[in-house]
Amino acid sequence: MDLMQFIKEDFSRWQSFTIIPRPAMHVPGGVLELMPICDNEKYYTFKYVNCHPKNTLIGKQTVVATGQISEINTGYPLMFSEMTLLTALRTAATSALATDLMARKNACTLALIGTGAQSEFQVRGLQLVRDIKEVRFFDIDPNAMNKFEKNLRGSRLKLVRCKNAQDATMDVDIITTITACKGHVDVIKNDWLREGVHINALGGDTVGKTELESSILPRCRIVVEYFDQSFVEGEIQRLSRKKAKKLVNAELFELVNGSKSGRIDDKEITLFDSVGIALEDYSALRLTLKLSEKYNIGEELNLTPMITNPKDLISTINLGEINEGTFLSGVKPYIM
Ligand SMILES: NC(=O)c1ccc[n+]([C@@H]2O[C@H](COP(=O)([O-])OP(=O)(O)OC[C@H]3O[C@@H](n4cnc5c(N)ncnc54)[C@H](O)[C@@H]3O)[C@@H](O)[C@H]2O)c1
Repeated sequence: MDLMQFIKEDFSRWQSFTIIPRPAMHVPGGVLELMPICDNEKYYTFKYVNCHPKNTLIGKQTVVATGQISEINTGYPLMFSEMTLLTALRTAATSALATDLMARKNACTLALIGTGAQSEFQVRGLQLVRDIKEVRFFDIDPNAMNKFEKNLRGSRLKLVRCKNAQDATMDVDIITTITACKGHVDVIKNDWLREGVHINALGGDTVGKTELESSILPRCRIVVEYFDQSFVEGEIQRLSRKKAKKLVNAELFELVNGSKSGRIDDKEITLFDSVGIALEDYSALRLTLKLSEKYNIGEELNLTPMITNPKDLISTINLGEINEGTFLSGVKPYIM
């Protein structure tokens, strides 16, 4: 809830950030991304994140991330953090925020497609904003479904294991897609959608990776986080720029500040076409820094040379005998 509040606050200050669409490097089997953002008052943050959908076959996670927050008046780093968990938390908090602004008030049934690492966080997030009673879920991997069911057992939710995505999405109020597959995969088909449903499409988040049959888009009130990035990476990447401009109703900050609405009536189909933006990571790092100061937790990590004369950098290494050892003692790599 705190994180959702931080994200909401930061989206409401949208104009005071410098943000760019994230640079992405595509490699065989995945993508590597860097997500920088600068608050013009206090902080600069960046996150490094990947998406390698086949990693789970070799016992590694699909998405891992690290990040840093720096102060802008000196540029000095203040905190370096793991962000794999923070990514799951901020993604859940952001889709909860969007759902709160877009889904019908009485929405209580959820279809969750893709029960991997992010999935339980999504359910927990949505429970903060709607009285979710039933979760219908599906994944192409039965083991991922077993894990999801086990983790949510005891949550007082009615969990309905479905045989396919169509079965899962039947008659629900909210659909969340969070699958990992690098390709234009029609995880959800247009024919299955009923009036009034709200969709959080989260897994289509890079070039060449989408989850919705493209004919769904013209039927929806579409909200994105940041048009310039979403146009390259989101569901709307399959549209021409002109068509995308026409179909996208708002960027999320416009719902947060009340200048646009997320839903006009109970019959409308609404779509939060999420790709994940640097502002959400900024909020997560800002909250982490605040909590670590409040509770005095975290480890001290010295990644900035400690020198009395700031122009005397060379004194951090032993000039007499420059070899690999003296080089490494000055550079101090932390191996992960
Ligand atoms: N929008 C955002 O802000 C955001 C943030 C984090 C992750 N993501 C994206 O979310 C996706 C999931 O991430 P994760 O960490 O949970 O990955 P994961 O690999 O742990 O889980 C993905 C699951 O999707 C399942 N799947 C793949 N294709 C499917 C299909 N056609 N139908 C049903 N299930 C299918 C896989 O079997 C797997 O269990 C990734 O694509 C990632 O890039 C988006």
